[in-house]
Amino acid sequence: MTTLLYGRPPAVFDPPGAAVQTSPLIPGSTALEDVAPGSAEAAMIYAPPGAVERRYSLALALRALKPGGRLDVIAPKDKGGSRLGKELKAFGLEVNETAKAHHRRCVVIRPDAVEGLDAAIAQGAPRLVEGLDAWSQPGVFAWDRIDPGTALLAQHLPPLKGTGADLGCGFGALATVVLRSPAVTALRLIDLDRRAVAMAQRNVTDERVSFDWADVRTVPAEAALDFIVTNPPFHDGGAEDKRLGQKFIRQAAALLKKGGVLWLVANRHLPYEAELNEAFKRVRPVADAGGYKIFEAVK
Ligand SMILES: C[S@@+](CC[C@H](N)C(=O)[O-])C[C@H]1O[C@@H](n2cnc3c(N)ncnc32)[C@H](O)[C@@H]1O
Repeated sequence: MTTLLYGRPPAVFDPPGAAVQTSPLIPGSTALEDVAPGSAEAAMIYAPPGAVERRYSLALALRALKPGGRLDVIAPKDKGGSRLGKELKAFGLEVNETAKAHHRRCVVIRPDAVEGLDAAIAQGAPRLVEGLDAWSQPGVFAWDRIDPGTALLAQHLPPLKGTGADLGCGFGALATVVLRSPAVTALRLIDLDRRAVAMAQRNVTDERVSFDWADVRTVPAEAALDFIVTNPPFHDGGAEDKRLGQKFIRQAAALLKKGGVLWLVANRHLPYEAELNEAFKRVRPVADAGGYKIFEAVK
């Protein structure tokens, strides 16, 4: 029996133990896109917060299920949960909806025919975004625009040299700027989001780059890099978490060789100075504009 799981629902919902993980945010998981249609008996989806991304994932899960298969969808009430029932009914489904622990839970049994699957899948699929001139996909960070923090960092970056990494590369906006310097010999693009890495692979077709679908916090730290650029994440599972950015800073220091340089952009209110000063020999605030701050830090 094949049971699919998407994300990490709270324990109170009793997630299945032996299930195939399909979240793009869990490195090594199976892509829902690749699950054979009609092959799964059951699926539990901890639904993502973006409406287009959510309908896309629900449609993929419904496509993967056999007729008669059970779809169990859970979402925090304030992050799409209150709309779940309506969204599932729009697929022509009969929905059993309950509320628990600030979440909504909707259970449906897949009928033979489901309405609107192809449209929801097409709406959430990767595309070349007009005006951005890059491939991206709903659900990826700032998927259809250049983040203002990234734009500010790009303005201040000097030509870098040697081997480096972009920690949390997204669809590759910053990497494209870094690679304009001919003195860059190698650039490693790392992101936790499979979709971001896949989009970066389409957008950054330079022979100096390599890609890692990985958690920056756990990549082996070999103190070998000349430079790092990063616009670190500060949300974990939807909630603001400054420790994530702080961990990126410590990990950047561990990945750099002595004398290596970190270029970082952060929202102004985030407390990264203590972490930077502790992990690096010299820290220079480079810019403070539009709600963002930029640091150069030398190990
Ligand atoms: C603020 S965004 C910056 C994205 C991209 N560099 C840009 O400028 O558009 C942070 C990125 O970090 C990724 N991320 C979040 N947690 C991560 C982790 N633990 N390890 C690696 N990447 C992570 C997110 O998926 C997101 O793409």
